[in-house]
Amino acid sequence: MIRIDRLLADMTLEEKIGQLTMLATGSAVTGPSSAQDVTEQVRAGTVGHVLNLIGREAITILQRAAVEESRLGVPLLFGLDVLHGYRTLFPIPLAEAGLFDPSVWEWTAREAALEAAADALAMTFAPMLDVARDPRWGRCAEGPGEDPLVAARFAAAKVHGFQAAHAAGAPLLAAVAKHFCAYGAATAGRDYASVDVSDRTLREVYLPPFAAAVAAGVAAVMPAFSDLAGEPMTSHAGLLRGWLRESQGFAGLIVSDYHAIAELITHGVAADEAHAATLALRAGVDVDMMSDAYRRGLPRALERGWVALADIDAAVRRVLELKERLGLFEDPYRERAVAQPAHARTRAREIATRALVLLKNARDVLPLDPMPRTLALLGPLAAAPTEMRGPWWGAAEPEDAVTVCEGLRRALPESTVLHAPGVALVGGDLCGMAAALALVERADAIVLCLGEGAEMSGEAASRAALGLPGQQGALADAVFERAGTRGIPVVVVLFSGRPLVVPELIERADAVIAAWFLGCEAGNAIAEVLSGRASPSGRSAISWPRAIGQIPIFFAQRAGGRPSDARERFTSRYLDLPVEPLFPFGHGLGYGRCRLERLRVGATRMRVEDTLEIHVDVVHEAGRAVEETVFLFTHAPLASVARPALELRDFAKIRLRPGESGTLTLTLRGAALCFPGAHLEPAFEAGPLEILVGPCADRARLLAAVIELVA
Ligand code: NOJ
Repeated sequence: MIRIDRLLADMTLEEKIGQLTMLATGSAVTGPSSAQDVTEQVRAGTVGHVLNLIGREAITILQRAAVEESRLGVPLLFGLDVLHGYRTLFPIPLAEAGLFDPSVWEWTAREAALEAAADALAMTFAPMLDVARDPRWGRCAEGPGEDPLVAARFAAAKVHGFQAAHAAGAPLLAAVAKHFCAYGAATAGRDYASVDVSDRTLREVYLPPFAAAVAAGVAAVMPAFSDLAGEPMTSHAGLLRGWLRESQGFAGLIVSDYHAIAELITHGVAADEAHAATLALRAGVDVDMMSDAYRRGLPRALERGWVALADIDAAVRRVLELKERLGLFEDPYRERAVAQPAHARTRAREIATRALVLLKNARDVLPLDPMPRTLALLGPLAAAPTEMRGPWWGAAEPEDAVTVCEGLRRALPESTVLHAPGVALVGGDLCGMAAALALVERADAIVLCLGEGAEMSGEAASRAALGLPGQQGALADAVFERAGTRGIPVVVVLFSGRPLVVPELIERADAVIAAWFLGCEAGNAIAEVLSGRASPSGRSAISWPRAIGQIPIFFAQRAGGRPSDARERFTSRYLDLPVEPLFPFGHGLGYGRCRLERLRVGATRMRVEDTLEIHVDVVHEAGRAVEETVFLFTHAPLASVARPALELRDFAKIRLRPGESGTLTLTLRGAALCFPGAHLEPAFEAGPLEILVGPCADRARLLAAVIELVA
């Protein structure tokens, strides 16, 4: 405190605003404006944070300029997007969410933080907590999927992992919960587009993950680029100051997104930089990432009396407090954060294996048993290490990921694995087709590796058509045809940062695995599952549509007054398609089959202060050992405000060997059943409550019981 008071007293206005400025330097490109050499500005004390610089040496050199050559010696805070690994890359968040295992979510964050802090980084722009119900939006790859409860648990686990203490006690990294809020509801799935959701949906869906991040002690929050019904999040005083700071008690840092303060002018709510800076500062934004609106605009805003020096001081204080909490004044080069190198690759392989979602397995063609003598491995993603990384790769080397080709050759030493890409990822070139089809003639089984490239999802990667890019569909058609006449199975390994809309491909393939982007151990993980050394256990954390026309699609929709009924004309349905997704939330097969039975609910009545235990038996019926995930949903059929058809309340997992059975316990908290009432006040209403337990969000597959809520 004394140090911060002294610094605040000594700082010029320019130096104060420097502490509110974050600039990019280095090679990582994460926005439109280019990185620059910031050394002179660091010496002048006019920049306090740096993003996108990678490598201990480069960071140390720049930090030295701040600590030894600037007037007050305030250390810089170095930040980077460390989303799903730093040197060791793990599965993308959407895939990792599908493990439904908070201990893994936390572990990967901690490992990434250990690696990043060892490189002298101090902040990650993660976790990304945007609930996403529209797969056109490429950023669904970066977050935990469609459900707010999953997102809230993901938030807590990630914040704890990233901010775990290093040996000297400071957090490894400061986590930044983003993008606050409702960014995932971008109009028509177009990145950066306007958002317009009701206050109720905000409270039920989009705010809970951020409440969980705040409760877990997140150091910082980043407002989204988008506007909410016309109010850009970067200047949304009601949500930033009102909800986040005042009602949630968030005292940490608010860091703008890249150039977002200046973009208040483009949004059409600010006339110039002084006006933009005023709106953002008044709303509670402390740090200006990459727009210079604070550096150029705040002095003018101060002169005009639009902002008070006290507001600038309060923001600077929050910055200095975070630097202090991170131990940067004593340890600016983060030498105390350097830990023993861990053996993260083994764990990365296990986690990647568990993230694979077996979407379809007709006639149990998987695992490949007996091993084919000759396997044809086709498609542009079979031997593409760089594409295994997904949309964020930190400091991972491009060639560091194990390809499917390498993984399979290692796992199947007795088999001959023939490989040909057939076609490129994108573009119209068909000249590799003949070579690929020639391999089909020689093979006993085909593995087709198709899908998106790493950079086709993530930021600025919305897609209006969600099929296979380039000529991959043509390759698949030709392969199905030839393989069909030869009577050999075709397994599709589908890479993507989102559910793809490829119903015909799925229909024609014998088996389909959603491989998302698995990181550095991708090829080994896929080989484990194809060969049967591991049973797939990932569950999709997002619904897979049958057609783009079904989007947005999610299990928590409300039934309405005319719920869909395929036999009744005047109901909420399509003339040309079922309303149900192709694969529901939670879908994922294993190499064994389980049955759920004996649903037991701890009580028949429940009050808001009660916690109920629900038990269900899981019985292994057939096949190999499995890891089964079980979900607890509720539905209130009668309430003052109609409730969603299903609401997720808990999930649990169990591993079973053939012939085994076990009991899972799921927990239902009365307080969690409160919902925004007619006037948005928290309501807990008396009445019946259906308890629904099962393997996915397909209501037909859920065991049910009814209890009574007592107000
Ligand atoms: C823009 C993205 O929206 C955000 O997620 C990211 O953290 C920043 N760029 C910095 O790279």
